[in-house]
Amino acid sequence: MTQTTVHVPLDDRAYDVLIGAGLLDRSGALIAPFLSRPRVAVITDANVAALHLEGLRAGLSDAGIDMIALTLPAGEGTKSWPHLTQAVEWLLEQKVERRDVVVALGGGVIGDLVGFAAAILRRGVRFVQIPTTLLAQVDSSVGGKTGINSPLGKNLIGAFHQPSLVLADTAVLGTLDPRDFLSGYGEVAKYGLLGDADFFEWLEANGPALAAGDMAARIEAVRRSVQMKADIVVRDETEQGDRALLNLGHTFGHALEAATGYSDRLLHGEGVAIGCALAFELSARMGLCSQEEPSRVRAHLAAMGMKRDLADIPGDLPDADGLLALMAQDKKVLDGKLRFILARGIGQAFVTSDVNPDLVRAVMRDALAARDGVRAPG
Ligand code: GLY
Repeated sequence: MTQTTVHVPLDDRAYDVLIGAGLLDRSGALIAPFLSRPRVAVITDANVAALHLEGLRAGLSDAGIDMIALTLPAGEGTKSWPHLTQAVEWLLEQKVERRDVVVALGGGVIGDLVGFAAAILRRGVRFVQIPTTLLAQVDSSVGGKTGINSPLGKNLIGAFHQPSLVLADTAVLGTLDPRDFLSGYGEVAKYGLLGDADFFEWLEANGPALAAGDMAARIEAVRRSVQMKADIVVRDETEQGDRALLNLGHTFGHALEAATGYSDRLLHGEGVAIGCALAFELSARMGLCSQEEPSRVRAHLAAMGMKRDLADIPGDLPDADGLLALMAQDKKVLDGKLRFILARGIGQAFVTSDVNPDLVRAVMRDALAARDGVRAPG
């Protein structure tokens, strides 16, 4: 299999996600049907530009499409008002019109920022996502969440604005640092854990091969992840209910990311992976699933060489109360109550606010104690 398509059937906002190796080379032919004139404005970051911008230029030029490009600094700091202003003003200076198409070439930061710029430019222009990380291919490029961070919290400013097309070129994943690839895999595993036990079983069998570079396995993993995300987004585009399932592992994960200062001590997908293990641990303590389930989650993460316990996070962490306080700042708090995504088993997640904080505290306390046990000298 070299290319496959997941359709996202959102009425007049429907679009395709194309998944395959070498899509960048064919980007011109794939994007051309969306253009009213043969010109696109591309926004990317410095790291991705060095690796893929000329490839995109060549792919577009093969179909006679001109490209203008803005390169922003790489890193989470780019998802901010100053760079949003820079992007929007640049698009206006380049005379990007309402019927033009803007292209986001990069990971989640670029996709979110450029999607938001497209949402507000001239009250909305179309945009194409070309996600270059595994995390962006399976999560952030699909579903229309766009935005920037505020000093008060991540992703607090934004809009729902669906792309017109997503080109997930699995060949570009070969340029990722292995740690970044595995961090994205945290989100892939999440899909199996939240809604598809067969997919999780498939990942247990094929995960190591896809991490080692098996292209057919990479395409299949991205396809199944995107299909599950598309199904959920179609049921609940603006997250009034079911879409929150996509946050499995995120309540714990965000607290750990905040505790580590959103630094490279813990990447987002690593926090999600540890968070999934903790969500299953909490589910088992609540009698919702058997104790074997959190062990199975951890065993798979271990087989993939991924972080799975608090002991895998370097440096100091706050105590259980400190971590609970960080969870309470999560944007998933509703009417002052924390919302958790728990599971009745692998592939059977559900959303609930009915969780005893003392039990959450106990799970964190035990996880921290296990960490101290592992890390104690001698
Ligand atoms: N990344 C979660 C969502 O798109 O809803």
